[in-house]
Amino acid sequence: MTTLGHRVPELDAAARSQLERGAHTTMLGNGNRIVIELSEALARVVPVDGPHFLYASDGASAVEQALKIAFQYWWNRGDVGRQRFLGFGGAYHGDTIGALSVGDGGFGTALFEPLRFPVLRAPSFDDPDCFDTACRMVAENAASLAAVIVEPLVQGAAGMMLADPAGLAALGDACAEHGVLLICDEVATGFGRTGTLFASEQCGLRPDLLVLGKGLTAGYMPMSATVASDRVFSEFLGDDLGPRTFYHGHSYSGNALAAAVALRHLELIEAHDVLANVRARSDELAGLLHDRIAPNPAVRDVRLRGLMGGVELAPPGEGLRWGRRVCTAAVERGVLLRPLGDVVVLMPPLTITSPELHRIVDTLAAALDDVTRAGS
Ligand SMILES: Cc1ncc(COP(=O)(O)O)c(C=O)c1O
Repeated sequence: MTTLGHRVPELDAAARSQLERGAHTTMLGNGNRIVIELSEALARVVPVDGPHFLYASDGASAVEQALKIAFQYWWNRGDVGRQRFLGFGGAYHGDTIGALSVGDGGFGTALFEPLRFPVLRAPSFDDPDCFDTACRMVAENAASLAAVIVEPLVQGAAGMMLADPAGLAALGDACAEHGVLLICDEVATGFGRTGTLFASEQCGLRPDLLVLGKGLTAGYMPMSATVASDRVFSEFLGDDLGPRTFYHGHSYSGNALAAAVALRHLELIEAHDVLANVRARSDELAGLLHDRIAPNPAVRDVRLRGLMGGVELAPPGEGLRWGRRVCTAAVERGVLLRPLGDVVVLMPPLTITSPELHRIVDTLAAALDDVTRAGS
C-alpha cells in the first residue's frame, strides 16, 4: 500500500501546508481547490476516456460507488433489465455488502451469505480458460448485465493470482461489443504497483469505471476514488436534483489534506521516475526468487508482477499455519512480512533499493528454513 515509504519529506510538507489552508470541507455537491487540482492531474494519467471523479475514503466505498453508478447508468437510459454484475472466482473488492457480493466469498464471509446479492461468477484466474468463459458469459447474458468487475492483472487478496493480459484485453473487447460496462478495480494494482501507473494499461483496457484507493495517497491517508468515463457521466446529466442525479456521498469525500498528499504523490512518481525503479527492482526480485526461493521444496509457487508478489508455501498438512509462522520468523529477523493463508505477500515500497530487496529475500529464505527445520 505504501508506495514511497514512510515519512517522505515532500508528502509531509504537502499535508502541513494544506493544513494551514484548511483540513476539510464537506463536498456533497461542491468542489474545493485542491481536489479540483488533484482531479485535473489524475485526468491526465488515468486510462479512462473523458474521466470524471467521485471521491470516497476507502476502496470498498469506491467499489460501492462504481456498482451504484453502473446500475443507475442503465436505469437512466431506460434499460431497466440490466441489473446484474459479473465477477471472477477468487475476486476481492472490499468488505461492505455490495463489495462482498461481487467478491467471491472467502475467509470470514460465510456468515453474511444471506446479505450478498447474486452475481454471475466467471472462473478464477488459475483456470487458463477463465477469460474465454467470461467472454462467453458476457455474450450470453448481455441483456441482463449492468457491468463486469475485475481486478486487472493481479488478484491481490486471492493470493497474488496473475492474469493473462491478452485474456483481459479480450474481456474488454467483449464488454465493448455487447455494451456491458467494464469496472476495473485498481485499488491494489494502481499507482505503479505492477510496473505501469495502472495495470489496465498493460492489458490495453479503457474501463468505463475505474476504482482507485490505497496508493492514491501513497498509503498516507484514507482516500479513494471512482472514475467514470464521459460516456457514463453524460447519462447523469439533467435537471438539478432531478431523477437522473446520482444521490450518493460520504462525509469525508474529497478531503483536502488527503487530496494535497495525493497530488504531491503523483508529481513525485514522475519526478523520481518511480516506475523505472519498479521495473528494475521487479526484474531483480524475480531473479532472486527464482534462484533462492522457488527451488525450496517448501515452496509451491512464486508469483510476481511488478512489485506485487506472493510466495505460495507447500505445507505437508492442513492447519499448520506455515504462512503465519514463516512471517513471524521473518519479523523476528527484522523484516515485516504478512501472509494471506499460506501465501507470503511481497509488496515492498516502490522506491525499494537493491540491498533492501536482498535483505528481504535472505530473510525469507532463513525464515523458511526455520519453519521447515522445526518440522510440521
Ligand atoms: C482489489 C481491491 N479492491 C478493494 C479493496 C478494499 O479496499 P479497502 O480496504 O480500502 O476498503 C481491496 C483491499 O485490499 C482490494 O485489494
